[in-house]
Amino acid sequence: MNYARVSGTGSYLPSGVLTNADLEKMIDTSDEWIFERTGIRQRHMAAPGETTSDLALHASRRALDAAGLQASELDMILVATTTPDQIFPSTACLLQAKLEVGGCPALDIQAVCSGFVYAVGIADQFIRGGQCRHVLVVGAETLSRITDYTDRGNCILWGDGAGAVILSRSDEPGVISTHLHADGAHRSLLEVPAGPSRNDVTDDKIRMEGRAVFKVAVNTLDQIVDETLKHNGIGKGDIDWLVPHQANIRIIQATAKKLAMSMDRVVVTIETHGNTSAASIPLALDVGVRDGRIKPGELILTEAFGGGFTWGANLIRM
Ligand code: UT7
Repeated sequence: MNYARVSGTGSYLPSGVLTNADLEKMIDTSDEWIFERTGIRQRHMAAPGETTSDLALHASRRALDAAGLQASELDMILVATTTPDQIFPSTACLLQAKLEVGGCPALDIQAVCSGFVYAVGIADQFIRGGQCRHVLVVGAETLSRITDYTDRGNCILWGDGAGAVILSRSDEPGVISTHLHADGAHRSLLEVPAGPSRNDVTDDKIRMEGRAVFKVAVNTLDQIVDETLKHNGIGKGDIDWLVPHQANIRIIQATAKKLAMSMDRVVVTIETHGNTSAASIPLALDVGVRDGRIKPGELILTEAFGGGFTWGANLIRM
């Protein structure tokens, strides 16, 4: 039986930083309000001209090094992003060119904050099916480019960054299960209205009804946790680490409570990374692996909720 196992992780944060103190000078807010309501103190910002594929390249090289692989050994490149460099080619194709490898399929996955969870599920299918041996799965975002820094209701959340994993074929699990869902009926609660087809709309910044999204996110993540545990016939106590999408510390705490997990079993990066959408889970995973908290053989649960709405979870044996 083929399984997809994490053989390497990597991440990259651009050097620019936007602190809560910086935001205090831009909008009517305070470090105290932002930290209490979101858990965020700062977020990283891509430099002018630094693109999503640039961030993805750094994270990918680190993941390849950790896996002991050359880019030429990759059978597929998936990039989960909401902030592609351009409409086309895909960011995955641009990343492929920067890695100087051609030939393997490369495509973007657009599932907003759930993009990485979706991409892991897709990569897993190609490895289980025997078509791929090594798949590069990246979550990368330059959300600062689509943030309205006059809208205090959500600009305080978003940050830039990239995380990557290599999934490699193995006899041992690996990605044990993936659970994916979407409900396209709630566009008005979380969207960037502009797009090439709706070309009469010029609003190309994130619009969010934060409080409404928050409530749906907490309830939905409760359900996805139940679904994952039930599907695998495991209990809350079987999970070693929760590696959640870093949307808001209060959402993360609610999921940890649901799992009866103490916060020291949860990888939390939101304080310094902010909400980096599709990049947040692979960024957190890489932090947890590199600082030695997440060890080979341990069971991790990822979960995410985001625009679409989309949501999902992966249960992974490291
Ligand atoms: O990642 C993908 C999915 N996204 C999410 O999961 C995000 C979900 N939503 C959230 O994280 C939170 O809703 C926010 C952090 C965006 C907002 O926090 P909240 O606790 O839901 O605040 P609120 O929007 O209900 O606003 C509460 C009050 C309001 O004042 P009044 O009406 O009570 O007087 C806002 O005007 O806080 C005010 N407020 C702020 N005050 C200071 C809103 N934003 C700010 C701000 N600084 N930045």
